[in-house]
Amino acid sequence: MSRIPKSFIDDLISRADIVEIIDTRVSLKKKAKEFVACCPFHNEKTPSFTVSPDKQFYHCFGCGKHGTALGFLMDYENLSYVEAIESLAQSLGLEVPSEQKDFGEKKQPAKEDLFAILQAANNFFKKQLYSHPQKDLVVTYLKNRGLSGKIAKKFQLGFAPDSWDSLAKALAADAKILLKLGLLRKSDSGRVYDYFRSRVQFPIHDYMGRIIGFGGRIIGDGEPKYLNSPESVLFHKGQELYGLYQARPALKKHDAAIIVEGYMDVAALHQHGVEHTVAALGTAVSKDHLTRLYRIVKNIIFCFDGDQAGKGAAIKAMRNILPLIREGRSASFMFLPQGEDPDSYIRTHGEDKFLNAAADSTSLEDFIFELAAEKSLPDSANGRELFMQYVKPLIQQLAPGIYRESLIQRLAPIVNLPDDRVRSFIFPIKGSKMTVRSKGANLAHRAIAFLLEEPKLAFAFEDFGVLQNSKVPEIKLLLDMLDTILKDNLQPAQLYERYVKDERFANDKNKIINEQNMLTGVDLQKGFLEAMANLKRQIAKNQLAQRVSTANSGAEINELINKKTKVTN
Ligand code: GTP
Ligand code: MN
Repeated sequence: MSRIPKSFIDDLISRADIVEIIDTRVSLKKKAKEFVACCPFHNEKTPSFTVSPDKQFYHCFGCGKHGTALGFLMDYENLSYVEAIESLAQSLGLEVPSEQKDFGEKKQPAKEDLFAILQAANNFFKKQLYSHPQKDLVVTYLKNRGLSGKIAKKFQLGFAPDSWDSLAKALAADAKILLKLGLLRKSDSGRVYDYFRSRVQFPIHDYMGRIIGFGGRIIGDGEPKYLNSPESVLFHKGQELYGLYQARPALKKHDAAIIVEGYMDVAALHQHGVEHTVAALGTAVSKDHLTRLYRIVKNIIFCFDGDQAGKGAAIKAMRNILPLIREGRSASFMFLPQGEDPDSYIRTHGEDKFLNAAADSTSLEDFIFELAAEKSLPDSANGRELFMQYVKPLIQQLAPGIYRESLIQRLAPIVNLPDDRVRSFIFPIKGSKMTVRSKGANLAHRAIAFLLEEPKLAFAFEDFGVLQNSKVPEIKLLLDMLDTILKDNLQPAQLYERYVKDERFANDKNKIINEQNMLTGVDLQKGFLEAMANLKRQIAKNQLAQRVSTANSGAEINELINKKTKVTN
């Protein structure tokens, strides 16, 4: 997978001006040291959205949205992380470098050139659909599958003829690059040949409509049914959705996305007027796919084939969507009759019936309860236990909040237990060790808040002592941040961008930002050193407490207690 070097993101953040970027989209007003506006992410009449030119952050005191220029572009323009980087780089006239060494030691070809090659390949495939001597074969095939010329145009379908070298001949490009892009293949004996032959070509577009790869379906029966472009600098199957570019306007209009399994399903649904449809590219629907869709729509409907494989795909998708669910987002599952797929279903039953079935789809929580009931009916003590064992790890994946709470309240009568019992079964109350741990965690969050406010504070702290051996994730995160700042001397927004995708940070982001917002008027250096000292004291206390609890002899305990008085004084 191609990775963008950290130093480039640092560079972008330091060159970009968040005030300018936001101001061209949301008109800002100057207020003391900051800028304010009515928040573009929630409805409000008086401004609680602030932008800090010093720190290069935006923050909404109403809805809690917070981030850097990159985060703003992601949220405001519905872009993925990489897309936001590309967009910001473009506006600053920079080219995004890649750490990937796809092309050996040689200089990487520019992405523009790769896009141009794929576009040229598709022009070739499209032309064959209209002019190749075998074109009737394909046209008849597409017609028999119910696809119109209009839909073929919309998806820019093409035809790869039955030939070993016609594409290679048509493209004036370095064979090495064509091999990397998967347009050519090399046999064991070293012969180079066209990869896609005798196939209907489905170009795969990125969000801007640039071609990044192909899927090729065999005409009629044969193996393999589909060939897909390999992963490349431009193409990542786990992130791209087929049809996203064509579906975008409809996604926005419906505020919903239907995810299907196949290329043909997407094409057929679009043709019958269900245009808010996309497909994963022959892989399981990933968290990346779903995160991306939830940036555009609030509702996701899975519509998989009505067979065992389709159900398996639905269960995988369910597991991946759980951590992304929160209030205002929905997920549901449409199950087609056995043996049907979305393509066959809409062709026999039409748009209205399909949309009715979509409206009747099974909600995420009902799907979970149905799956649990397949394992065990909750009508006996033993049955309830098994039922709860099934749902427990799933519900644990949900973020705390209204959605999770209402699911628990729906679950309680099903298993015939009070809400509280269900809640404590799924989220056992943690013992004293946890409360001690969370004290350390809170102190670490406070120290991190200081660093985000002013990274240079890291240089004021020297004596790491007991901190070094801590196993508390929040403290390890803090140490990691200190280390990063000491190495790279980052500005606040750069530090934030380095960690925003780190789970340890992302999970507690709101807590940390709240702490940070309370630092106004605080003497930063004094406060930071105090927070660090408190943290060290807390760790020393924990370590002692633990040793007391595991100490063997009375003498050992007395010795430890003597130490303890020293620590607390
Ligand atoms: P049709 O059979 O033409 O209706 O295709 P479909 O789009 O309905 O495909 P299907 O539901 O059988 O499979 C779903 C998706 O899995 C396809 O769109 C492909 O992305 C992928 N897929 C299916 N068969 C193959 C295969 O043989 N090889 C590869 N690499 N991918 C496949
Ligand atoms: Mn099909």
